[in-house]
Amino acid sequence: MKYIAISILMLASLSWCGCQSDKKVEMKAEKNLDPHSYANSNQVKTSHLSWDAEVDFNSKQIKATATWTLDRKEDANQLVLDTYDLDIDKVTDSKGNELSYELSEKDDILGSAMSIQLKKGDDQVVISYVTSSEAAALQWLNSDQTLSGEPFLFTQSQAILARSWIPCQDSPGIRFTYDAEVQVPLRLLPLMSATNPQKKNDSGKYRFKMEQPIPAYLMALAVGDLAFKEIGKQTGVYAEPSLLDDAHSEFIETQQMLEKAEKLYGPYQWDRYDLLVLPPSFPFGGMENPRITFATPTIITGDRSLVSLVAHELAHSWSGNLVTTATWNDFWLNEGFTVYFENRIMEAVYGKEYAEMLAYLSYTDLKNTIDNYLESGKKKDTSLKLDLEGRDPDEGVSAIAYDKGFFFLRWVEKQIGTKAFDQFLNDYFTTHAFLSIDTDQFIEYLRANAFEKNNVKFPEADVRRWIFQPGMPEDLPMPESALFQEVEQKTAAFLAGALPEDQLVLKDKSTHEILHFLQLVTENQVSLDKLQKLDKEYNFSQSTNAEIQTLWYVIAIREDYQEAFPYMADFLKKVGRRKFLMPIYEALVEQDKKELALEIYEDARPGYHFVSYRSIDQLLGY
Ligand code: BES
Ligand code: ZN
Repeated sequence: MKYIAISILMLASLSWCGCQSDKKVEMKAEKNLDPHSYANSNQVKTSHLSWDAEVDFNSKQIKATATWTLDRKEDANQLVLDTYDLDIDKVTDSKGNELSYELSEKDDILGSAMSIQLKKGDDQVVISYVTSSEAAALQWLNSDQTLSGEPFLFTQSQAILARSWIPCQDSPGIRFTYDAEVQVPLRLLPLMSATNPQKKNDSGKYRFKMEQPIPAYLMALAVGDLAFKEIGKQTGVYAEPSLLDDAHSEFIETQQMLEKAEKLYGPYQWDRYDLLVLPPSFPFGGMENPRITFATPTIITGDRSLVSLVAHELAHSWSGNLVTTATWNDFWLNEGFTVYFENRIMEAVYGKEYAEMLAYLSYTDLKNTIDNYLESGKKKDTSLKLDLEGRDPDEGVSAIAYDKGFFFLRWVEKQIGTKAFDQFLNDYFTTHAFLSIDTDQFIEYLRANAFEKNNVKFPEADVRRWIFQPGMPEDLPMPESALFQEVEQKTAAFLAGALPEDQLVLKDKSTHEILHFLQLVTENQVSLDKLQKLDKEYNFSQSTNAEIQTLWYVIAIREDYQEAFPYMADFLKKVGRRKFLMPIYEALVEQDKKELALEIYEDARPGYHFVSYRSIDQLLGY
């Protein structure tokens, strides 16, 4: 089977670029089957990294030495690493003898392959290099972009951006341990996805260790004026000092979540679990960097209404970080499992009704995404198993992997019962700990361990339909929420003009009910007059909950409710989380307000991370 796949790949690369030399074909054929990495990991695997780095805020560069320990086949004569815009100074063996290397021409998505000639017996290479000041993973913030007035740096490596700050085998199927020594300015504290300091020292030099093997996309570094506060015995939070108490109070349930998670699916394998609150330009809600989740400050709302994000990132400590997708085509194995696990943690902490509301919101996201993808000719991308070869793996980040993945697992749970399913997941995490898995391997594991072991006939055709077919599965188990049903009735009456806005009593409702209400309003036409009344009653334009703000501003743009626009513009200039930015900019473009979009974007763009501005540049043709 493997041979067939390899020869198809060779053919594909031949016809795809008939002009290329044989060398490229050989490189493709030799690599593992991750289409987003040049690594020749079936010849040589990187098994440990020693990273020595100096963070220079003046030049916005990291100067570093990466020493890779190799696990190589006897006859392997070269090591191929992924790089993106790295300025390589030199490469040596462990004794300081220079090794020759070559960088291939840069591919816009994949970067350049770095091929290092190995001598017999070399099991280490030492690479000295400097990152580009435009490195895609890195965001350098000036002192006027932080609360503390100190500069800040953070990385975002997933999916394939680690190669822009470390020359590495940047594939989720390749794991390594690491240690690091990082020099930073004295006023700042560095943190990594590793053992972390809890306070600054007076040398500015810090040591880190990650003893469990991780894939490159989980490499992370943040440097800022950061302070720490303990939550529970294994848990705590880092933030800029003026935000620390609010962050601590928002995340006070983290230790409890961790204990519930362990009770569900087995021991937490990473020792500590800390959270780091980043400045608002962080392009994601959260990133599951091992031992230290990076999080957006937009979840600090004061009422803990968005802490399911913590449950999500924590759940990745099992699904994703412990058992990892082999390639980005199988990304749903990371995110679908994590949304399922997140929901179970939320159920354990907040109860069934709460978890069902979250599941329903997940269903709405899925439905909107499928409708939208079908309309815009992206039908193929609505199946769980993706084909992202030749494309940026970022294109696979959608509600399909997350929410279709989630509902597929709920569907399996329904077939075999919750108890058997929980046992199955426990075994799955144990047997695949610190390993990578692809969709086909998962299906075989599911057949044997979820179904046959429990004497339930394996519904192969259905499983394959869920995983490989596009569109909305007709047997999706619908979440049921009594609270949402009540919202639906009231909203229908309100939209029909039969219920005044104050009787929606949204002031007494949870954030999730309000979000459901706003989703329903989005799906229907609503008059400008009604929007004004709603705003007067509930102050949505000035909400400080980013989830509510995003839905509200999209409605406001559609109905040309201009009173909301200044608040919308402020929001876009403050927050850099792509999930919020995209729908708002998209609505502006759809409603012929591209000029306004560009005017705001001009101001806002310097505050966005590469991940966000790349998407918006494309949308606005910037
Ligand atoms: N691992 C993802 C973030 C990610 C995915 C970064 C793919 C780059 C490529 C993280 O766990 C995540 O899913 N974050 C979500 C929040 C979550 C509650 C759904 C986000 O940032 O919105
Ligand atoms: Zn996730």
